[in-house]
Amino acid sequence: MMQRTPAAPAPTQQEDEQRIVTPKAREEDRVADRNLRPRRLQEYIGQDQVKQSLSVFIEAARLREEPLDHTLLYGPPGLGKTTLATIIAAEMGVNLRITSGPAIERPGDLVSILTNLRPGDVLFIDEIHRLNRIVEEVLYPAMEDFAVDIIIGKGPAARSMRINLPKFTLVGATTRLALLTGPLRDRFGSVMRLDFYDIDATQTIITRSAGILGIPISPVGANAIARRARGTPRIANRLLKRVRDVAEVRGAPSIDEAIADEALAMLNVDELGLDEIDRRILETIINKFDGGPVGIDTIAAATSEESDTIMDVYEPFLIQLGFLQRTPRGRLATRRAYEHLSIPLPQSNDIRQQSFFEDA
Ligand code: ADE
Repeated sequence: MMQRTPAAPAPTQQEDEQRIVTPKAREEDRVADRNLRPRRLQEYIGQDQVKQSLSVFIEAARLREEPLDHTLLYGPPGLGKTTLATIIAAEMGVNLRITSGPAIERPGDLVSILTNLRPGDVLFIDEIHRLNRIVEEVLYPAMEDFAVDIIIGKGPAARSMRINLPKFTLVGATTRLALLTGPLRDRFGSVMRLDFYDIDATQTIITRSAGILGIPISPVGANAIARRARGTPRIANRLLKRVRDVAEVRGAPSIDEAIADEALAMLNVDELGLDEIDRRILETIINKFDGGPVGIDTIAAATSEESDTIMDVYEPFLIQLGFLQRTPRGRLATRRAYEHLSIPLPQSNDIRQQSFFEDA
């Protein structure tokens, strides 16, 4: 018989934002990010393919004395999309204007941003998949022809007038490429995918950040944090600061493996970087839905999380770990997930699931 653990109460949205391992930006990150963010491509660690492509495109654009092509960055939160936009502007020697899809409510808001750009500027639109359709339509001629069409007057007297814009670079960022409309996606000259950082790159980032913050840390200490940082620099930097607190309280001269282990255990972050919410999602699939497949909306309802949050924030890392599989019929917990949670594998007579485990 499979052991069933009662599901703990679901977290509220506020609790979710307080998670130490949330890849979304928290208030404390904003100040830290400013100091820790690499400013030039040279300083940027990891994402080698993106870095390589960008450095060629930037150099070519500079040689031609043209703005860089519109660039779309996509991938899970916390991997450095805003940082890359900042770097692009710095490398091109131009200004950066930052906004986001939900912040631009009306077409007029976007027209005002666009007409205030200076030649060559980089306009960064975060969460670009959340732009509303009417606003998005303003972007099409802006991206393609560096112009916007505005309507002057009302009724029969209304006229359309075209305003030319300076040539600029749009850098769009999204966690959900699939939600972008075809016409918008097609207008980007390059589309680049950011991936989770490997442990080595994460360790290098932690060592660099510790250097900037004046935190003594040993290589094994940095590695212990890196292993639990979910391949996400934003989380790595946040964990580093919490571990430093413990080191200081313990009077430890530097962060070593024992201090890192103790601090992360206190924060309820397990040896792979999973916290209670990740475990709750997996336990829900396993205990309430026999391991799946189960639809994302059902998981959301059963855990009181939003489907979008599960898809953007939790699921990518659980998939990366091989704990969760997306199938056409829903999400499936894998054998690895059972093993990690120490839940016995079901003696299932369900052939489909058995054969899945044999394949896995
Ligand atoms: N800090 C956050 N992300 C970084 C990166 N990719 N390289 C260097 N430092 C970082």
